[in-house]
Amino acid sequence: MPRTELTAIVDRVGRAALAKEMSHGCTVIDARDVDALSMVRRGALLIDVDLRDIDQVRLIKDNLPKADDDRIRIVAVERGSHRCEIQARGLGASDLLKRPWSFADLSRCLQRHANRHTEAISLEAEEIQREPGGSSILSAAIELDRLFTALTANGALDLASVEQAGDQVVGAVAEVGLAKWLDSVRRYHKSTFQHCLLVTGVLTTFGHKTGMRKQDVLTLTVGGLLHDIGKAQVSTDILDKPGKLTDEEFAEIKKHPLIGYDYLRKQNLIAAETLAAVRHHHEYLDGSGYPDGLTGQQIGDLTRIMTICDIYGALVERRSYKEPKSPAAAIEILTRMARDGKVEYELVKALERSVAA
Ligand SMILES: [Fe+2]
Ligand SMILES: [Fe+2]
Repeated sequence: MPRTELTAIVDRVGRAALAKEMSHGCTVIDARDVDALSMVRRGALLIDVDLRDIDQVRLIKDNLPKADDDRIRIVAVERGSHRCEIQARGLGASDLLKRPWSFADLSRCLQRHANRHTEAISLEAEEIQREPGGSSILSAAIELDRLFTALTANGALDLASVEQAGDQVVGAVAEVGLAKWLDSVRRYHKSTFQHCLLVTGVLTTFGHKTGMRKQDVLTLTVGGLLHDIGKAQVSTDILDKPGKLTDEEFAEIKKHPLIGYDYLRKQNLIAAETLAAVRHHHEYLDGSGYPDGLTGQQIGDLTRIMTICDIYGALVERRSYKEPKSPAAAIEILTRMARDGKVEYELVKALERSVAA
């Protein structure tokens, strides 16, 4: 599992506790909603219900899909109640949250989970580590995992770590070259992280080859790592769906720029132009993009660069159902989009020179 999605199963009592501690960041399901219970597929689970209500506990147990090893089940219990603890274990609890629980308690549980993922990533990525630029890919992937977990749990952003990971990417791409770096990234199996890593590498190269100052290259690189952070709130069933999305699924995906922007803005650490790029990287100059339908001059330089590097990254991505486009084919598509008035022609030309160099 690439990150911690959180689903909370609550009754009246649990709903009040959740409302007090968390403003957003999880899917909330009513404990008696059998259909919703049976649809829970991924991520971490928080169960906060009256465990003395045996019928309700049975209903949850019977309708939740079977626990798998990859999932954390956090169950809220009355402090000191053995009976509740037994019921919680019966629900497959991997962690107990003693009432009254706080956001910090929940975060600690989720962090333990994130650490386990980090270890899993390290094991899975041993092969990647041996590739050109591999250790920087791994650092950036671990950072993405932390970022996605932090957003999901509404936790704090560790900007210093993101910048450190960005710095490593800048160094690695400069050392091995974009083509080799992209080749290594394409071996990375988590699709959203692969995409973010590809886009980050493309942005780094663009900044470097167009002669930007070191600090500006780092701004682009950090922007690349952050740009799709809002996808932490979009189900991986939708993000990884092979083939065409339904209108409802596409509407879900289209929420990610605003989710990412809202989270980052609250952190008070991110420069305004990076925030704008996170919010507007799917806007087009002709006003046909989202979420705000901006046009021409309303779209800043950093955002324009982010948009074309994002599209380039998506085109050269490897997915289980599609082979990556060649650099030439990706540039051809972007050139057509520029001719249609969607993206800036000069920037596409600059990207073409950057990736060819
Ligand atoms: Fe995006
Ligand atoms: Fe993207």
